[in-house]
Amino acid sequence: MTTNVKRRQLLAGAAGLTAASALHAPFVLAQPAKIKVGMMLPSSGTFAALGASITNGFRLAVEEAGGNLAGREIEYYTVDDESNPAKAPENINRLIERDKVDVVIGTVHSGVALGMAKVAREAGTLMLVPNAGAGAITGPLCSPNIFRTSFSNWQPVHPMGKVMAAKGHKTAVFITWNYAAGKESSASFKEGFEAAGGKVVKELLLPFPNVEFLPLFAEVAALNPDGVACFFAGGGGVKFIQDYKRAGLKDKIPVYSTFLTEGVLRAVKDDAQGIETTMHYADALPIARDAEFRRKYAVTFKLQPDVYAMQGFDTGLLLAQAMAAVKGDFGNRDGMIQAMEGATIDSPRGKWTMSKAHNPIMDIYLRKVVGEENKYQSVAWKALADPARGCRMG
Ligand code: BEZ
Repeated sequence: MTTNVKRRQLLAGAAGLTAASALHAPFVLAQPAKIKVGMMLPSSGTFAALGASITNGFRLAVEEAGGNLAGREIEYYTVDDESNPAKAPENINRLIERDKVDVVIGTVHSGVALGMAKVAREAGTLMLVPNAGAGAITGPLCSPNIFRTSFSNWQPVHPMGKVMAAKGHKTAVFITWNYAAGKESSASFKEGFEAAGGKVVKELLLPFPNVEFLPLFAEVAALNPDGVACFFAGGGGVKFIQDYKRAGLKDKIPVYSTFLTEGVLRAVKDDAQGIETTMHYADALPIARDAEFRRKYAVTFKLQPDVYAMQGFDTGLLLAQAMAAVKGDFGNRDGMIQAMEGATIDSPRGKWTMSKAHNPIMDIYLRKVVGEENKYQSVAWKALADPARGCRMG
């Protein structure tokens, strides 16, 4: 269904509602139609906790906006995408075709998000990406109706090359899952590390979401690089951290990453101490907005937020800001898009702006695991924008 058709239906629906109200209840004001929000996230598998954090963060932003979006209540529709790319077209079509949602929020896994973006692009449905970093979404597949509030896979890992080279590391091995997020992280790390004078001697891959790390660790030990860099997250990240320590490598070959230690420090306890990561969020950031977010999050969910919760929160902020700009008239598609393109988000990660390709331009921080925190150390890269290779905004 095109957005123009949706707009006509929306206006016809609103007019019908007003006429009916006038006939039967002249003293009751018509309520504006609810906004239908489709949440396509994983609630099972290795990324289940990430999906839950995103949902919490989004709901907190709506709460902050007064429990609605520019006066329009929200009706939620949810789908567990299982982090399964093969089911992505069917799952997003359930939301768009069957539930007729106004906006789709999703997802975590890059492969699933790529499948979603192809459908959303075709249907013209507004899609907000609260995590998945697949480069193509804000590259060759970029589209006026698709916005990302998280990062591209190129962004968080790119500064790590400079960080490791500055420590005197000359050689590195990159280990990851063999899918878009892993391979794009690996390529970006290589670009950054080699530009800083280092050499990636090997890329080691295992199928997503496998966690049989020991054969790969034997290869790492044989190669004996100065450092290991990796992309893993969620449940797989927990197992990686535990096995790296058990394999006796942690004190011999330092490991660096991005998402590895995010949201898992309670589970891995001592095994992660000292691991350094580069990310667009950190614990103990000197940002007042973050302190406020953390306080509200802890009160509401009895948990500390992680990067995924912050991204969900920013997705809610972006949508609330655009809805306010069009005074709740979701059918004003051009107004919504214009508001999102010009948005500055006052985020717990620090203020960020939207790039021309619809991806955050933001600071990347260096963090270090201390106790149960990914503790802020310094700004690794100021206002980093994804190169958005291949994006021609239609
Ligand atoms: C991804 O597939 O893009 C992804 C998954 C988990 C954490 C970060 C990125």
